[in-house]
Amino acid sequence: MSATGTDKRLSPPDIQARKGGTPLVVLTAYTTPVARLVDPHCDIALVGDSVGMVLHGLPSTLPVPLEMMIMHGQAVARGLAHAMMVIDMPFGSYEESREQAFRNGARLMQETGAAAVKLEGGEHMAETIQFLTRRGIPVMAHVGLTPQSVNTLGGYRVQGRGNDSGRVRNDAVAVAEAGAFSVVLEKVPGSLAAEITRAIAIPTIGIGASADCDGQVLVVDDMLGLFTPFRPKFVKRYAELGLEADRAIATYAAEVRARTFPAPEHVFGEDLPRSRD
Ligand code: KIV
Repeated sequence: MSATGTDKRLSPPDIQARKGGTPLVVLTAYTTPVARLVDPHCDIALVGDSVGMVLHGLPSTLPVPLEMMIMHGQAVARGLAHAMMVIDMPFGSYEESREQAFRNGARLMQETGAAAVKLEGGEHMAETIQFLTRRGIPVMAHVGLTPQSVNTLGGYRVQGRGNDSGRVRNDAVAVAEAGAFSVVLEKVPGSLAAEITRAIAIPTIGIGASADCDGQVLVVDDMLGLFTPFRPKFVKRYAELGLEADRAIATYAAEVRARTFPAPEHVFGEDLPRSRD
């Protein structure tokens, strides 16, 4: 039994039915061991294209290829028993046409076992979202700050302040009406996120948005203190595993240099094998 009180594998309609209910818990995962950690506590494990920056050291999500998403999706699937897996469609894999989006979305689902894809964009992606959802590909939409558009947005800025609020609101309404089963609201003012959450019929999942959203998502390496090159305001550090790892590695290095590791209990003797050999 998972911490969320059910052994049943959640589906996109289950997630949609959580609108206005107990907040949805979402974290990214890119590997099997982290998927195993996330699985008992989360409703959704998101194989985000942030994998490119977090695990592969890329400067943005733009260079992430479909093959990288598939490889990490397969690894995450091996670690999940309860949480629903959603996988990001990377930049360049869906924007050209509805057909291109279907072809690559189907490939992501077939080769990884993901239950849904996530794609970035609002009104201009509504037609594609409708095309995918009508053909068996559930879509989580992503509006507000859409990192794949960092170059057209001019940076990782808050979206929807002042006169710009209507644009983000219209984007959220459009993806909901197109059939998305949920929508990520990234880096939008709290009051706008709350207003959108009240206005649309699908769950909103906030990141740098508002506690009034229907759920929250964070990059797992951010909240564990494992990814440190930069730290957006919306990241709360629930652990400092990077510091802990640094201490452990420094101690190992010192012990190797001092010849205090390996100690006798880590070394094999001449006598008959025992169970830990
Ligand atoms: O790629 C990602 O990890 C994401 C989340 C931050 C929402 O899109």
